[in-house]
Amino acid sequence: MSKNPDVIIIGGGIVGASCALALAKRKCQVLLLDAGITDGAATPAAAGMLGALAEASPDDAVLALHVRARDIYTTLVPELEEETGLDLELWTGGILEAVFSDAEATRLKSAVARLRQSGLPADWLSLDEMLECAPGLNPKILGGVLAPDDGMLNQVKLHEALLIAAGNRGVEVRQDCIATGVISRSGIIVGVDTKQGELSAGNVVIAAGAWSGALTGLPRPLSVEPVKGQMSVVQVKTNRPRSIVYGAHGYVLTNGNEAMVGATVEHAGFNTDITDNGTEYVRKAAAEVFPDLGNAEILRSWTGLRPGTPDGRPIIGRDPDVTNLWYATGHGRNGILMAGLTGHLIGRNFGTDEIDEEMVLDPVDPGRFWKNRRGRLVF
Ligand code: GLY
Repeated sequence: MSKNPDVIIIGGGIVGASCALALAKRKCQVLLLDAGITDGAATPAAAGMLGALAEASPDDAVLALHVRARDIYTTLVPELEEETGLDLELWTGGILEAVFSDAEATRLKSAVARLRQSGLPADWLSLDEMLECAPGLNPKILGGVLAPDDGMLNQVKLHEALLIAAGNRGVEVRQDCIATGVISRSGIIVGVDTKQGELSAGNVVIAAGAWSGALTGLPRPLSVEPVKGQMSVVQVKTNRPRSIVYGAHGYVLTNGNEAMVGATVEHAGFNTDITDNGTEYVRKAAAEVFPDLGNAEILRSWTGLRPGTPDGRPIIGRDPDVTNLWYATGHGRNGILMAGLTGHLIGRNFGTDEIDEEMVLDPVDPGRFWKNRRGRLVF
């Protein structure tokens, strides 16, 4: 690695790893700085869901990007599996959303109609039809929506595979290297400040998840805050088929004799404590969907810090004023879903490949928060 890599990526989670691979595929020299954060890191904490439809309303401008992001994995996963020999456990058996009130049923039936009109498969299911996919559901459920192409993968293995594939293409990962900010001169970025010293770079990608907003030297304050999610795995007495069901207060992923249940949504700074209130919330969210989980033994609990933004959408792309500063952060609840696409969107600016497809990127444009506030540029 030269002393001045083409790109330094700040953040060694799944988004940083995906950007590293996409850039390395375009022959960039990439240095990935991994702070080695274990407490609250979002990648290992996630459930691995690919909830393209489950996590956006039919009218949300980000929906098309969610769908594209989910579908990227149908090619990226087999490619990575072939290269690394890892099984990334991609499962696209669908995500169910359960409905508990007439008002919600009306709202979601209309959502199904609008999704289908825009060419996205979605179905309204009766409770009996839902029970065929997810036995044990609460009999009070009135029905629900099936997003048949949504699903999940093993995000820990995906992360590992991305790092292996990036390493195979010359990406250097500097472990336990804590970036504190970016360094600029005359309106461009010249490097990164770390606790271990300064590093120079041609470009910098901010992919530090919930920690992105704490970096110094950025042209403007970056609106990324930690949003805490507490989750648990509980024991299931009867063997259950694989299913993912959203309830009114959380989601349950069943498989065999275990169910993963999430998650609280808390604004508690960088606090990662597992609390009685959090565990109770998760237990109630599970029982609402599968009543037998109300008393289930909790096998393990943990916390993740999502990188939240004011509008709940990620920040992906080039800084509006600083040509060599890039953002790949703020993915909130959808970091796993969006990781592959984010790498692709960052990487394609660096290659000679033609823009392969048109995507409306306004919903994730970094400039959207600052459009009327250019005067705050501090460079
Ligand atoms: N992806 C779901 C969550 O963040 O809780």
